[in-house]
Amino acid sequence: MSGTNKSDKKRVLSGIQPSGQLTIGNYIGAMRHFVEMQDEYDCYFAVVDLHAVTVPQEPEALRENTEAVAALFVAAGIDPAKAAIFVQSHVPAHAQLGWLMTTLAYMGELERMTQYKDKAAGKVAVGAGLFTYPALMAADILLYNAHLVPVGDDQKQHLELTRDLAIRFNRRFGETFVVPEPSISEVGARIMSLDDATKKMSKSNPNPNSYISLLDPPDVVRKKISRAKTDPGREVVYDPANKPEISNLMTIYAQCAGVSLDEVQKRFEGQGYGAFKKELAEVVVSVLEPLQRTYHDIRQSGAIRDILRDGAQRAAAVAEVTLRQAKEAMGFLLPQG
Ligand code: AMP
Ligand code: TRP
Repeated sequence: MSGTNKSDKKRVLSGIQPSGQLTIGNYIGAMRHFVEMQDEYDCYFAVVDLHAVTVPQEPEALRENTEAVAALFVAAGIDPAKAAIFVQSHVPAHAQLGWLMTTLAYMGELERMTQYKDKAAGKVAVGAGLFTYPALMAADILLYNAHLVPVGDDQKQHLELTRDLAIRFNRRFGETFVVPEPSISEVGARIMSLDDATKKMSKSNPNPNSYISLLDPPDVVRKKISRAKTDPGREVVYDPANKPEISNLMTIYAQCAGVSLDEVQKRFEGQGYGAFKKELAEVVVSVLEPLQRTYHDIRQSGAIRDILRDGAQRAAAVAEVTLRQAKEAMGFLLPQG
């Protein structure tokens, strides 16, 4: 098998787009699992800038957000000595295998992707890259022969396509890629908007009160939580079908405090939404404050560029081997040397 790991540790890869400020949804659904996995697995975490440009980005904002997301990885607790933190475009193998994957993916498969349908809805002009985006995501994962891919619930469909493409490639051209598994947690894989529990919390929502950014100052967090929509009634009860808004807030509480939903429910029995929201705000602030302190220290130190250089080297060492094997299997005449 190509590029498999010398240390026998299974590999993990995941990516986050630098397309705005990361939210507590990104943290709960993805980033905190990156941190949990770094000791047990050989981890690669990418800031996926090539994915971000599938919708228009301001050049200055893209540069700033790319560095900011990398710094947030470190601030959240990813240790660059353990996990490779890198920028996708710094490892050219991603774009190259991405192209090969577009030749393998069927139009019909890509047309069924709900993220594409959502992002393209109502737009007059849609970039072709938005359509082929999942083929690039498959390349990100397959280049590392990742066994596990920690993601939020919204990425399940892309992971299924990645598995299909790996299986298709292996059948057609011989065993080359590990077929990856998604790693999606049971609680917190889909944090919803604070103003509408039918929508995923998203950094691209034009209403900033709908999300908590990882860089929101404590007072902003308190204000946003106090304004968050709640269901009729006043009982703090976990019941996603009938009380979606309060159930979402309880999920955020449980994940930030490291307790079960049952414990949250017991703790606030008979107390009403007001008392719950006040404590929720403090629990969220207690997670964000240390993260923000580290974030600002790292940004000021300028260390992030060194971390990214080292991460890209480690990533490229793995990715280039796999790309070469994939090209060889497909019948490309490889350059000598
Ligand atoms: P993105 O910001 O779209 O690049 O997403 C990066 C990661 O965060 C992916 O694994 C997403 O599934 C996850 N994620 C994004 N938003 C949420 C959310 N509201 N709840 C849980 N996970 C999320
Ligand atoms: N598509 C993912 C998202 O929107 C981001 C992503 C790109 C990714 N490449 C990846 C996630 C590889 C996991 C693995 O959130």
